[in-house]
Amino acid sequence: MYILGIETSCDETSVAIIENNRVLVNLVSSQMFHKLYGGVVPELSSRAHLEQLFPLIRESLKTAGLQIEDIDIIAATAGPGLIGALMVGYNSGKTIAHSLGKQFFPVNHIEGHMFSGFIGRENISYPVLNLTVSGGHTILSVLNSPTSINILGSTLDDAAGEAFDKVAKLTGMGYPGGPAIQNYASKGNEGKISFPVASLKSKYDFSFSGLKTAVLRYIQANYKNGELPGEDEKSDIALAFQNSAINSLINPVKFALKNHKFRSLSLNGGVAANKKLRESFKNIAEKNSLELLIPDFEYCGDNAAMIAIRAKLLNDSGVKINYLKYEPFPSFRSEFLENNM
Ligand code: KG4
Ligand code: ZN
Repeated sequence: MYILGIETSCDETSVAIIENNRVLVNLVSSQMFHKLYGGVVPELSSRAHLEQLFPLIRESLKTAGLQIEDIDIIAATAGPGLIGALMVGYNSGKTIAHSLGKQFFPVNHIEGHMFSGFIGRENISYPVLNLTVSGGHTILSVLNSPTSINILGSTLDDAAGEAFDKVAKLTGMGYPGGPAIQNYASKGNEGKISFPVASLKSKYDFSFSGLKTAVLRYIQANYKNGELPGEDEKSDIALAFQNSAINSLINPVKFALKNHKFRSLSLNGGVAANKKLRESFKNIAEKNSLELLIPDFEYCGDNAAMIAIRAKLLNDSGVKINYLKYEPFPSFRSEFLENNM
């Protein structure tokens, strides 16, 4: 069974082909020009997806040694994301599938992240305690099966990746913030600076606005007239921020482990590329005898392999979607949510 996945929800155009659980090819073209504008410009993003998508589809088929006729299922991200960007990949995938009489699966981008640790794996032990941390979402969930998800908590303000990006911007560390902060933090001195860890009434939720404000106040108190910290100071600030952000992410996970029984622990989304966060999850999984599901680095950020895998899981579960009546959507929602925890 060959599945071709398409991802165009934000600023990465990606096409992947999987054969069962195995990724044959996963191509990602990142729209780096948004850097010039300090954020993603929706109209420019849609145009760039249009230019990139078909060359990537052709290249992925060539790399996999396949013809489009060999593909069994085409899957494309339906949402959440920038609606114009989603339309490009979604309508292209749907049209190709429909014209060739293939099956088409609309895929939820967040569910793609949630199940991205399943890439290359045969048997998963459910229930899975799952943390999805990206630039737009921070969601703690329980995966009971491919078609049953409980949301335990989410961020009350900024998403984790957004906090990394904003802090990197206000301290002059560069963009995207996650890798920049990780890099500076690796050279920082432990304990020189410390920032608060969010303590919330709702123990499964997250908050990063207090931490972001603490970094801003620190900069305002120590650097005048728009001056920015030097390289050594940036490293200490990055380490202190990263430590607090990771603790804010891990505390709800530990709380969930105390209160419910799980068999696996998973971490995914762009921020899951953070080495310290991955290490922390590895330690928690070992301590609690849980199977650990963290995707390889290339499947943490936005990618089409996770879209194809999600379609495979849905297809294996017998899910049928009337895609001709299905429309792309901008905000998070899911057909597979349960609320019985
Ligand atoms: O999942 P993703 O590629 O896109 C969204 O769907 O949002 O996540 C992008 C986010 C960005 O905020 C980026 O700064 C963050 O992931 N990120 C990281 C690291 N690499 C990427 N955050 C922390 N540490 C990293 N190494
Ligand atoms: Zn994403």
